Amino acid sequence: MASKLYGEWSEARKVCVIGAGTMGSGIAAHLCNLGFDVSLLDVTRDAATEAFAKAKQARPPHFYLPERSNQVHLGGIAENLDWVAGADWVCEAIVEKLDIKRSLFEKIEPVLSPTAMISTNTSGLQMELLAEGRSDSFRKRFMGTHFFNPPRYLKLLELIPTASTDKAAIEAMTKFLEEQCARRVVVAKDTPGFIANRYGMWSMFHAIHSAEKLHLSVEQVDAITGPFLGRPRSASFRLNDLVGLDIMEDIAANLIERCQHDPNRAVLQLPASMHTLLQRGWIGEKAGQGYYRREGKELLCLDLQTLAYRQKLDVRFESLDGISKLPLGERVAKALEFKDEAGEFLRTHLVPVLQYAEAVKEEISHSHQDVDRVMKWGFGWEMGPFEMIDAIGPDKVGLAGKHYYKGKTQATFHGGFTAIKAEPQFASLQDFQIVSKAENHQIRDLGDGVHAVCLTTKQGVITTALVSELTRFFDGCKFDRMLLSSESKNFSVGFDLNFFLTAIQNVDVQGIDKALIALQKLGELIERYSIVAAVQGYCLGAGHELALSCAHIAASGEAQIGLPEARVGLIPGGRGTVLTRIFNQSKDNTAQRLAEVAMNVAEGSVGNNADHARSLGIIRPTDITIYHPDRLIGDAKRLVLTALPTARPAWRTPDGPMTGMIERLMQEARTAGRMSEYDEVIGNKIKQVYAKSESYEDALERERAEFLELCFRALTQARIKHMLENGKPLRN
Ligand code: NAI
Repeated sequence: MASKLYGEWSEARKVCVIGAGTMGSGIAAHLCNLGFDVSLLDVTRDAATEAFAKAKQARPPHFYLPERSNQVHLGGIAENLDWVAGADWVCEAIVEKLDIKRSLFEKIEPVLSPTAMISTNTSGLQMELLAEGRSDSFRKRFMGTHFFNPPRYLKLLELIPTASTDKAAIEAMTKFLEEQCARRVVVAKDTPGFIANRYGMWSMFHAIHSAEKLHLSVEQVDAITGPFLGRPRSASFRLNDLVGLDIMEDIAANLIERCQHDPNRAVLQLPASMHTLLQRGWIGEKAGQGYYRREGKELLCLDLQTLAYRQKLDVRFESLDGISKLPLGERVAKALEFKDEAGEFLRTHLVPVLQYAEAVKEEISHSHQDVDRVMKWGFGWEMGPFEMIDAIGPDKVGLAGKHYYKGKTQATFHGGFTAIKAEPQFASLQDFQIVSKAENHQIRDLGDGVHAVCLTTKQGVITTALVSELTRFFDGCKFDRMLLSSESKNFSVGFDLNFFLTAIQNVDVQGIDKALIALQKLGELIERYSIVAAVQGYCLGAGHELALSCAHIAASGEAQIGLPEARVGLIPGGRGTVLTRIFNQSKDNTAQRLAEVAMNVAEGSVGNNADHARSLGIIRPTDITIYHPDRLIGDAKRLVLTALPTARPAWRTPDGPMTGMIERLMQEARTAGRMSEYDEVIGNKIKQVYAKSESYEDALERERAEFLELCFRALTQARIKHMLENGKPLRN
């Protein structure tokens, strides 16, 4: 009976989130992005509407497409109790108060569907107490789903069962969250603050106390604890501001009260600087100021001695700069020996933080890997504490004799090693064997007859050499099913602009035309195969033209995809102009849609995310978004097993006067200041290809001819030079 009940969880579509504050709104938006039918309740409908209005303005945005926010149903708990009754999953995210949460559960229990999943988003209340007084039916499917803020961007979810939660319910929920909710799950124990807040918060407070003790500045600490330590740029103090000092205070107070047994709990006492900031209401980002304050373009920073703001100093440690290229463990090991302030800080702060992981691990977690994963997935650390101790050398951090990972095994808490569970669904390219290597690309064997063709150029840049190599590879390639991918974090930043600039300077018209023909032909070759482009990070320009030549694009949700050629004074010349024209023509898509897409290409538009790129007409409706950041390769591989080569749609002349429509849209853009006179010149070139071409072949020629014509204009050359020198587009 129980397994049948939980078996249905994977079909859940309707979610009711209760509490429309920071977390509830963020969770509702995240689930709405993924296509769930989401209702969001607060005390009243007005309260929900008001709270959700704030969430719609959040930066970075919660929604992939702003208009999706209209799909979330907003209501009040009393007026809309039937929404709770109709939900497959009720996710509570109201204030962190035990009695208020408990009385909500009491109120909703009688109406809950007997098969619904029910969870709380508490940051640290005791799960066992939250479940007290509820029926068996409720308790066996009740658990903590601790999301991290903001849910769209942080994939970690701590899942906290109570003693009465069914094992099958935990497994079904983990599967549901990992397969359908773009989460990575760590099952934590029902101890104060679970893993993330107990260990992560302690580490955050420890950094502030250490800075105050050693009289180091905010900038000095952030210079040490950011990328040098394999952590995000927000480092220590910027992270405090992002989390919110009020939230940190609440979590710490709860931990101190509930962790009387912890000899290290004093670290959670408020540091002097934080105490003052809280008193002044300068609680971080949401108050506009905390340890940092932005004034116009200027960034100010709190002086920990005077507790007044001053201009932010550009701090660098020569000692750390000198070793920054070494692997993480090696450089930290070296830095721990430095006699300067950086070394002293690391000895004072990092060593106890690593030792604290060893001290609390068994109380809070089921394995070393779980603690490491929480810090990597929730805090963005490159290595969790145990991986870090192994990498630095345990004896260097006072943990001689400890050793946590060996190959594919990890140490258990009571001696010996145990196998780490394989998770092929989350495999990355680097997990697969390289079967052949060329200068600019390599082939990996993904198993099941699928191979990945991986670009190895820096940032996936497309060079003439790469195009020749890939052409040789695809011409008579023996593999049937392939992924087109990149070893870099970015699929591709586009064509090597230096090539064009040099060719322009040498007036090498033929050279440019030959490069474009080669790119167009390579795309046509790729079209013959069952191939899926797995794209992440940037997928721009020529890189995107190759991706569009694949049967499908499997795009990571956060991928920024586009054809920004216009920003360097050009138009897409490797079939990008032609393919966006072909792929957006359909019976329902009249000239109006094509005119809009032409404008997007003319403005050099890049989608902020995959769904945005689709709405711009830059990727096809048949291209899929992979919202889970760790499933790109696994899901793209599944797709390629069924993908067929694309039959390129025939060239169609749409109904309606496309030329006039493009001109009108350009005029509007000029009046609104979105397009300069020269942008209009470029727009007219797109218009020529879109509206004047009579066939696919004709369009390819026009695309190249217009590209070449633009190359020899001074304003285009200025744009290319500016981009190469500054990494930013020039509007001229
Ligand atoms: P919040 O204060 O921003 O929002 C709470 C919302 O719950 C308010 O809109 C309030 O009107 C509503 N509410 C209160 N009582 C209610 C009731 N009986 N029925 C319906 N709605 C009610 O709080 P926030 O930050 O969103 O936190 C919510 C939960 O998530 C808390 O348990 C918190 O510990 C947890 N959490 C918070 C994180 C954060 O970064 N803010 C991170 C992870 C978890």
